[in-house]
This record gives sequence, C-alpha cells and structure tokens, in this order.
Amino acid sequence: MKATATAHPNIALVKYWGKRDEALILPHQSSLSLTLAPLSITTTVEWGQEEDQVELNGKAAEGGERRRVVELLSRVREEAGRPLGGARMVSRGDFPASAGLASSAAAFAALALASRAAAGLPRDVRAESVLARRGSGSACRSIQGGVCVWRRGERADGEDSYAEQAFAASHWPELRMFVALLSRAEKEVGSRDGMRGSVETSPYYPAWAQDAEAEIPRALAALERRDIASLGELAERNAWRMHATALAANPPLCYLLPGTLEVIQRVRHARGQGLKAYFTLDAGPNPVVLTTADALEDAERVVREAGAVEIVRCHVGGDATVQVHV
Ligand code: DP6
Repeated sequence: MKATATAHPNIALVKYWGKRDEALILPHQSSLSLTLAPLSITTTVEWGQEEDQVELNGKAAEGGERRRVVELLSRVREEAGRPLGGARMVSRGDFPASAGLASSAAAFAALALASRAAAGLPRDVRAESVLARRGSGSACRSIQGGVCVWRRGERADGEDSYAEQAFAASHWPELRMFVALLSRAEKEVGSRDGMRGSVETSPYYPAWAQDAEAEIPRALAALERRDIASLGELAERNAWRMHATALAANPPLCYLLPGTLEVIQRVRHARGQGLKAYFTLDAGPNPVVLTTADALEDAERVVREAGAVEIVRCHVGGDATVQVHV
C-alpha cells in the first residue's frame, strides 16, 4: 500500500498553450518536450490512512495546491475499485522554485505513478500519463523520458489525450539545455490563467493552435536527424508565437523582462558568429538555452555576460521510476 516515484520536469519545444476542456485538461493542440535531468521530484504515497495528508517540501499543503492533489488521489480510489482509505503523500523536489522551471509537471507525474502503484494497479504508461494530465497538462509528458509528444486527441472524454515517447534519451546524448535564470520572482499570471486568457481573448489563438500542430512532425524530423539548427529555429519561432498570442490577449500578457531580450539578442548575435545555441521561453522571463555539449561552455559564457544570475544545467533524462515498498 506504499510506493515511491521519481520524475523529471520537462521543457516544451512545441508548447502546450490553451485548453479545449478546462475540467479534463484537454489541449487545443499537440505539444513536444525534452525531459530535464538531473532535476527531479520524489513522491511517496501510502494508502490506508484515516484521511488524505499532503506534504510538499516539508510543509502541509493548503488551498488549491492540496485540492489538486486530493482530486488526483480520488481518481485512483475510483479506479482501484476497492477501499483504499486516505493517502499520506510526501513530496520533495531537488530543484528549488528559483530554478525558474515549473515543478507541477514532475510533481503530478511522480504523484500519478506513486499513487497508482501503491494502490496495486499494474504499470500502464498510458493510464499514468492520462492521470498525470488531470493534475497538470504538461505532467503527462513527464512519465516517460527522452522526447515526448502529447497528442491533442479527439475524444471528448480525453482518454486518447496522453503523451508518448518519440525518442529515448540515448537517441541524442550530446543535446544540452540550461536555464538562464534572470529573476526568481513569482510570475504575476500563471500558465493556467495565462492560457485561458489567450484562448478567450487573443485574436491570434486559432492561428497559434493550427501552427503548433503543424510544427510537431517538423520537430520530430529535426530530432530524427539530430539537426540542432532546424530544431533550435523551430523552438525559437514556437516560443515567439506562444508569446505573441499571449501579448495579443486582453488584458495583454507579457512574461518577458528587459533581461530576457538581452539574453535572446546575445544568443542570436553569437549564433551569427557560429555558435550553435538557441532559446525557448515558457510562461516566464527565464530563457532555456538549447545547445550541444561541444558548444555548452561558450553558450553559458554568452548568457552570463548577458546578465543571467544563475545557470541551471540539464541533459535529456530518462523515464520516471517507481518502487513499491513491501
Ligand atoms: C508554457 O501544464 O502548467 O509551460 O495544465 O493548467 O496545469 P495546466 O498548465 P501547465 O502549462 C504549461 C505551459 C507551458 C508550455 C508547456 O509546458 O508545454
């Protein structure tokens, strides 16, 4: 009745931005991401308690944070089809929120894996991805490692909207990513509200969704060829298009800081001189640089000179793992 799971966060190169179903967390378009090792979150779930207890990084969770976890636990109670009682859930991340990466993807992936395994449900990557998605959309891409594609799906019940691995981490061992940390401040508008505002009020939204969907096969082809220039250019234009959609919302959503543009400009300038480095940008000010091992040191130097206060180095990580305690 007890299991521990570890999952990595992920960074999307074709972003998920906008839901067609808010309750089921179903996206308007498919997305594609890289798994970010060595960062991880480890979660233990033990059923058979009097009530649900949720502990995140040493503190009892409250409000919306607790509610999202308890809702996921209740779905496992339903699926198990036998009385499980309450769950004691303890979760700890080895990367601080100040790493500039959202922790919700790794957190809900680890929770989905641990809560199902502790309930005695057999491993099922698709069911785990669907369950993780219900906690936070991007979490469905953190069950498997390497490169994952979350297909939009067509069904109204969302059972065909889950992520699958397109390439294992071993496909391209030289690929590197790092977060260029500019600000540790919490963003004013989170992804959930930001994408809702974009869907409801941005006149560019339909074009965004259509374009992002069309980029998926192109991203897969560039990955297949291990073609950093094509992949990097695609990642940059997809990030710009997501931000353009958000900027055109009413009220407008600007996640960029002056320092963000400084990093982006310097990276582009260095590229003109032959450096193979590209950026992507989630719903926040900290660019994530995409490069290869041979160019890593030069890319880091450029980003430090542009004002990054910290660099968080990553490589492509493997599958989330789970262990049942006997
Ligand atoms: C910009 O997965 O955090 O990082 O489904 O509402 O929990 P919810 O949103 P979330 O959004 C991630 C948005 C993004 C792009 C991406 O990861 O694809």
